[in-house]
Amino acid sequence: MSVLVTGGAGYIGTHTIIELDKAGYEVVVVDNLSNSKLTGLRRVEKIIGKSIKFYEMDVCCEDSLRKVFAAEKINSVIHFAGLKAVGESVAIPLKYYENNIVSTISLVKVMKEFDCRNLVFSSSATVYGNPKSVPINESFPLSATNPYGKTKLFIEDILRDYYHANPELNIALLRYFNPIGAHKSGTIGEDPNGIPNNLMPYITQVAIGKLEQLSIYGSDYKTCDGTGVRDYIHVSDLANGHVLAIKKLETAPGIVTYNLGTGNGYSVIQMVKAFERACGKKINYRLAERRPGDIAECFADPILAKKELGFEAKFGLDEMCEDCWRWQSANPNGYES
Ligand code: NAD
Ligand code: WQD
Repeated sequence: MSVLVTGGAGYIGTHTIIELDKAGYEVVVVDNLSNSKLTGLRRVEKIIGKSIKFYEMDVCCEDSLRKVFAAEKINSVIHFAGLKAVGESVAIPLKYYENNIVSTISLVKVMKEFDCRNLVFSSSATVYGNPKSVPINESFPLSATNPYGKTKLFIEDILRDYYHANPELNIALLRYFNPIGAHKSGTIGEDPNGIPNNLMPYITQVAIGKLEQLSIYGSDYKTCDGTGVRDYIHVSDLANGHVLAIKKLETAPGIVTYNLGTGNGYSVIQMVKAFERACGKKINYRLAERRPGDIAECFADPILAKKELGFEAKFGLDEMCEDCWRWQSANPNGYES
């Protein structure tokens, strides 16, 4: 029996394939390579020492999905496929609503046709909007301020509604905090297109000399040093959370929602200092205006995932930064190198 990984060529997908393989699962990947390269999957094949079944296709296309389900024995699905750039989602909202929502609906329809009963969905801490306090637990109110975040919120709602009408489908909604880091081998990692929007890839590209200076967005928040605080989680820890979620769905059916974070919040300045320790260089930065739409603090209450999934992040901040640096310094141009 196999796990179908949609968006499996991407950042979190590639790392999750490795953890699934370690746990003894067969993997089938579908991806349209709109935000990834085949090289990532080829490198995963080297790490796990076996070839990966891969279909290049759009998850929005029901007919293509049917062909995969007809050809493979799919027991569970992890649905990573989606567009994730917040700024682009504001500029081109329909692209996000169409891609993220239609892909999920097509997938669920085809899963029903083939009686496939376990679905893990990539949600995001962005569904908590601007939280009233931290740490954030799963029962906090939900809201979203940009089209990307709204797709996650709508899809969660769609899946909850679908579950009530079709309780035979087991669903895990996993709300990720801020994934960073890379596999220990340094051969796979995050490879953003163009200038990175997210903090960690921006820092690593300053360290490697591709970008001149980091702008720290906001230094007057009510936080330990005025800069924004987030819950950074190692992508391999996050990947392992998916294996635990699949196991949970296999043994305890229903619909479940979990935060995947560490429970620790670090400020932008603390991240810069940690990265300087990891790479042995100074990071050139300046204090800049707040970024519109940003919130002061966001970190998880990770207790529910610990209690019900047995999930606990293993990697600390220094290791996350070291792993980012190993990947970036060995692959200055990402998968193009
Ligand atoms: P990613 O862009 O690296 O991976 C997503 C993959 O999906 C890419 O390989 C892309 O080519 C593929 N894809 C997109 N639309 C597709 C479609 N219609 N059909 C087939 N393939 C398609 O992103 P990631 O960081 O690995 O994120 C994976 C998931 O986790 C996304 O749904 C994202 O929204 C969610 N998420 C990511 C973060 C983060 O900070 N990285 C945080 C919270 C949630
Ligand atoms: C982290 C901190 C910035 C860049 C975003 C999405 C969210 C989720 C993860 C998918 C903030 C500061 C950043 C820079 C900076 N994705 N920063 N200079 O904003 O927490 O979350 O990615 O679901 O939906 O919104 O992550 O890495 O962009 O920012 O000072 O050049 O770093 O202001 O405090 P964020 P981030």
